[in-house]
Amino acid sequence: MESIQAIKQRFGIIGNDPKLNRSIEKAIQVSPTDISVLVTGESGVGKESIPKIIHQLSHRKHGKYIAVNCGAIPEGTIDSELFGHEKGAFTGATSTRSGYFEVADEGTIFLDEVGELPLTTQVRLLRVLENGEFIKVGSSKVQKTNVRIVAATNVNMFDAIKKEKFREDLYYRLSTVEINLPPLRDRKEDIHLLFRKFASDFALKYKMPTIKLTDDAINLLVKYRWNGNIRQLRNVAEQVSVLEQNRTINGNTIQNYLPNTGSNLPAIVKNSKSESDFSSEREILYKVLFDMKSDLNDLKKLTMELMKKGSDSDVQKDNEHLIQKIYGDDKDEEFEAAVEDLEVLSLAEHTDADEDIVSETEDKYHFAEEIEEEETLSLHDKELELIKKSLERHGGKRKLAAAELGISERTLYRKIKQFDL
Ligand SMILES: Nc1ncnc2c1ncn2[C@@H]1O[C@H](COP(=O)(O)OP(=O)(O)OP(=O)(O)O)[C@@H](O)[C@H]1O
Ligand SMILES: [Mg+2]
Repeated sequence: MESIQAIKQRFGIIGNDPKLNRSIEKAIQVSPTDISVLVTGESGVGKESIPKIIHQLSHRKHGKYIAVNCGAIPEGTIDSELFGHEKGAFTGATSTRSGYFEVADEGTIFLDEVGELPLTTQVRLLRVLENGEFIKVGSSKVQKTNVRIVAATNVNMFDAIKKEKFREDLYYRLSTVEINLPPLRDRKEDIHLLFRKFASDFALKYKMPTIKLTDDAINLLVKYRWNGNIRQLRNVAEQVSVLEQNRTINGNTIQNYLPNTGSNLPAIVKNSKSESDFSSEREILYKVLFDMKSDLNDLKKLTMELMKKGSDSDVQKDNEHLIQKIYGDDKDEEFEAAVEDLEVLSLAEHTDADEDIVSETEDKYHFAEEIEEEETLSLHDKELELIKKSLERHGGKRKLAAAELGISERTLYRKIKQFDL
């Protein structure tokens, strides 16, 4: 059996909190069985890794893993998405379609936000859980499927049962084993650890030096309520990494990024699409746009010079600072790689168009994501990990990292773009 530590590394889970470890241990223990698991915990605590661990460690790992966000599917189409439909079952059903439960036969389905399922769908789900049977919408033929179900919720299921929004029998069927993830405020030891990891990831991503926190800034982070949990912490780390010029962050600065600090009143719980999420994204986009605008102005100036003087070698000398600003140290490599990226992009546009044509005639799964088999996943992860580590070791210097990895600098540049590092 893989150790908890190895699982954390494989699935990118940071933290040493005993409650977190216990949850991961439970996931490892239930993975070889077909027991239904309900993952609970506040929004942003990291529930989505648990079903992935369970699937990858189970005998179903070569089967499909389909994650369905039950809260995002309109009530009118959810039965058809999950269980499929017959041709003519409703207006617009021009062909027979398989649902997720048919497609994921021999695999795992992750039902995220399961508390949002309409009552009629809950009845169908109960039947699948009890004897593996389901019926397509508009059909009378009973079909069989062998699917392992892992569900997750961030709402109090007992409240939902009391309000008759969720069937009690289904709740007990789904939660044979419950795995609860602790809120971040109860994992104080992990807060700085997580922040450091996110800060170093964002430094690499935005090609800026890593931010460092002073002791009073760390104290504030540890004391904060983190109603949005790890998602909120990651968000704060990203905002600070992008917006602060001074890379040493003190308490005063960090306070600006923590809504409601200094107050003992409970903070208002926000969901993932909160105002602050949007404003941080907006600020990051502004920064990118300003940078692009500045690059564009520099390029305009350079082009104007070239038009006036032709390819006179003095143009390069006169505009050395601009060329340096736009292309950095290794201007030839970056420039060539950028040109190559453009070619790749135009190729990708063609492929997308082709796919569109194909998808007209095929079934689409709008609300679910599918995860490839473990081999593909871990190969990709390993390559990503190797590149990240090498870049970290060499302080982000691509030349040294490329030499260590035995690839050309240009290939490394492409990988950085491809993996969005
Ligand atoms: N232990 C962890 N280490 C590193 N990153 C984490 C950890 N836990 C969560 N994250 C990151 O935090 C973010 C939120 O996690 P996730 O989407 O799993 O939350 P959730 O519990 O499903 O929340 P919700 O109920 O709102 O859907 C993700 O970007 C995830 O990668
Ligand atoms: Mg989630």
